[in-house]
Amino acid sequence: MVHHEALVQLLSATPERPALVVESARFFAESLAAFDVSLRADVALREAKVAAENANSELESFSYSVAHDLRAPLRSIDGFSHALLEDCAEQLGDQGREYLKYIRESAQRMAQLIDDLLALSRVTRTEMHRVRVDMSMLARTVAEELQAADKHRAVTWTIQDGLWATGDARLLRAALENLLGNAWKFTGKHPEARIQFGALVDKHPIVYFVRDNGAGFDMTYKDKLFGVFQRLHSTDEFGLATVQRIVRRHSGRVRAEGETGRGASFYFTLEEETAAP
Ligand SMILES: Nc1ncnc2c1ncn2[C@@H]1O[C@H](COP(=O)(O)OP(=O)(O)OP(=O)(O)O)[C@@H](O)[C@H]1O
Ligand SMILES: [Mg+2]
Repeated sequence: MVHHEALVQLLSATPERPALVVESARFFAESLAAFDVSLRADVALREAKVAAENANSELESFSYSVAHDLRAPLRSIDGFSHALLEDCAEQLGDQGREYLKYIRESAQRMAQLIDDLLALSRVTRTEMHRVRVDMSMLARTVAEELQAADKHRAVTWTIQDGLWATGDARLLRAALENLLGNAWKFTGKHPEARIQFGALVDKHPIVYFVRDNGAGFDMTYKDKLFGVFQRLHSTDEFGLATVQRIVRRHSGRVRAEGETGRGASFYFTLEEETAAP
């Protein structure tokens, strides 16, 4: 309506220059059409994003409840296998007992997998409580816990002081537990293991890193490390998938660098990248 009025005004203001009026009108119409197209694309994009988010959260609650409901029948399989072993051991014979042992081991492994999946799901589902977090202190606490669990291992820790972040303290602790826990685990065979926690403070947003001189990995698989169902070795590796979810919940990014036999570095941010690097 407003555009029509503007056109009428334009036409009446320049009656002696019809060619110019036609040209102006065409330009006006084309600009409007382009604006309309970009507006529609914008709306479509926003709608698609909302739909994807809804689908994602539905899928998340579906897997959560499936995993949750699988626990009870599993407990029953494990419980009755145990009862069978206890009460009917003689009738079963050696081979029967052996088979039952495998059944129980599988049931327990599956229960562990389900618990891990539920824990991973909770990372996405729980509410975030943003506070100022002393990352250096957090890293030191996690390092002390790892060291206390295995006092015989000599590891040189280097933890940069004064590193802070804004985020969910519990989730950030879980991320550091996984990253430092991995560094601890994958330097296990190194006679002079070194583990470092630090940050590239002149970057914006600040880039935190965990580095070690352990087993490292082949960079060909750098993106597969973070997926739950794209594992390198076994099927029950959840650590880095958890780290990635935590970092994403803070609008940050995580990436891995490594070389087989020469250690690994994991870099992460906890804020959205605003300016180009
Ligand atoms: N610091 C590291 N050095 C070398 N390889 C690593 C390191 N951290 C992770 N990886 C590789 O990435 C894989 C996935 O790591 P992730 O933490 O998800 O699993 P995991 O430690 O094997 O199992 P989980 O964390 O569930 O106990 C590891 O199995 C390993 O191959
Ligand atoms: Mg791990």
